Amino acid sequence: VTTTFTLRAGTVARANVDLIAVPVFADRVLGPGADAIADGLKRGEFDKFLVGSGFEGKPGQTALVPTGALIPAPVALVIGLGAQADLTLKILRRAGAAIARAAKKSTSVATTLLDAAPESLNREAAAQALVEGIALGGYQFLDWKSKGEASKLTRVEVLGRGGAKVQTAIDRAATVADAVSWARDIVNQPAAVKSPVAFAAAAKKRCAGAGVTVTILDVAEMKKERLGGVLGVGQGSAQPPRFVKITYTPPRAKGFLALVGKGVVFDSGGLSLKPPGGMETMKTDMGGAAAVIAAMSVLKKLGVTSKVVSYTPMVENMPSGTAIRPGDVLTMRNKKTVEVLNTDAEGRLILADALSLAVEAKPDAIIDLATLTGACMVALGDKIAGLMGTNEAWVQQIRDAAERAGEPVWPLPLPAEYEKQLESEIADLKNIGGSYGGALTAGLFLKAFAGEGAWAHLDIAGPARANADDGELVKGGTGFGVRTLVELATNFTAPKKA
Ligand code: BES
Ligand code: MN
Ligand code: ZN
Repeated sequence: VTTTFTLRAGTVARANVDLIAVPVFADRVLGPGADAIADGLKRGEFDKFLVGSGFEGKPGQTALVPTGALIPAPVALVIGLGAQADLTLKILRRAGAAIARAAKKSTSVATTLLDAAPESLNREAAAQALVEGIALGGYQFLDWKSKGEASKLTRVEVLGRGGAKVQTAIDRAATVADAVSWARDIVNQPAAVKSPVAFAAAAKKRCAGAGVTVTILDVAEMKKERLGGVLGVGQGSAQPPRFVKITYTPPRAKGFLALVGKGVVFDSGGLSLKPPGGMETMKTDMGGAAAVIAAMSVLKKLGVTSKVVSYTPMVENMPSGTAIRPGDVLTMRNKKTVEVLNTDAEGRLILADALSLAVEAKPDAIIDLATLTGACMVALGDKIAGLMGTNEAWVQQIRDAAERAGEPVWPLPLPAEYEKQLESEIADLKNIGGSYGGALTAGLFLKAFAGEGAWAHLDIAGPARANADDGELVKGGTGFGVRTLVELATNFTAPKKA
């Protein structure tokens, strides 16, 4: 079902919904709407109920409270927000997710949470965070469940102050959440149903009517374009590779941004085969491409004024009699040669061609997203993406966008002194470094194909997937990067030369 999100000026007493969600601050200070519900009950009953259920008003705490006869909604979901002065977008987003989780059996909910935001918090940003939380926290993937129970929630009313701008922020949140959900869906699909051909077709379908042009290169076309990295990794699979380019050109574009995403639909490791446990989640290895395509699909709807072009190579990395061997040499799009010593370091091989094509288009800046290294997870854990880049201003622009979007990223270096780890005995480069700093040597490898202009790389190996529900994240594919990319594209300005 699709859920509609509407801003309304009403009160809890008039909200005709199944569930009403109201805020309570630290030390059980009643927030907007909660006071009205308390007034509708016998004196002291509301507070007694909260005390009895151990509810103090800390962020993340929730309690279900009966409302009594004066209010149409029979039950109130009381949501702890902590001290009002300390309220953040993150707390609101997580509160929204808590509403969605509690509301799966309700068809309609209303919430007064937006009015809990202090004046210091930007109202549109607060509305966006709250609605993104509701829309994403309720995400479900039921395609393969024969008895899956889909959420019944179709109507969400945001009760509170605000005009057309706040409604626009709410609409924006719903659009972004829809893109994130598309990315989650395709990440969650088994590799068997998302071959490169099928993934490319899904991208094209997603972008129909989205004001972009989609070009899909097949193997013959990739040969003509000399995409040696994509063809080399793809040659071991019965499923042929594809290369998808999506172009968004608004009238009088004010800048030109290029997006690149790793689209390995399944990473077995190839002949350098992964152990079984390491393969379990490797259908997620196209999470970078999924995020990039999802973002492209909503640029027009969000009114982005910069030109944006995306480059997403799609391959399956498999071992077979036709697979690339350790020791083989590939000639990449930009004519550099690469000795492939480990076929499991495949992401950088396909990204090399994609980055080369992006560089040739002469954008003002490039960002790539890739589930690139286990080493990045060792460094930053599974919730924070590693950010590397060649231009400080560009890296900062990405950090700011990610911060606003609520997606954690952290900078990592690209140390020139590690470059020699990538020297090959027989070719220009080899595709693996030494035992340590694997996220950095992977980044340095990409740098060799990223040109001289502003480029940044986001290693999303960790956050592309969640191993448990957590706020707006639901166990499985997260769609990490979509929110940052749309934020980045919306506010894009060409970074100054480094
Ligand atoms: N797709 C993996 C990286 C990955 C690992 C993502 C775990 C998410 C979770 C990538 O293709 C890979 O296999 N990288 C190797 C590189 C190594 C062979 C230099 C790795 O990280 O072990
Ligand atoms: Mn791999
Ligand atoms: Zn991979």
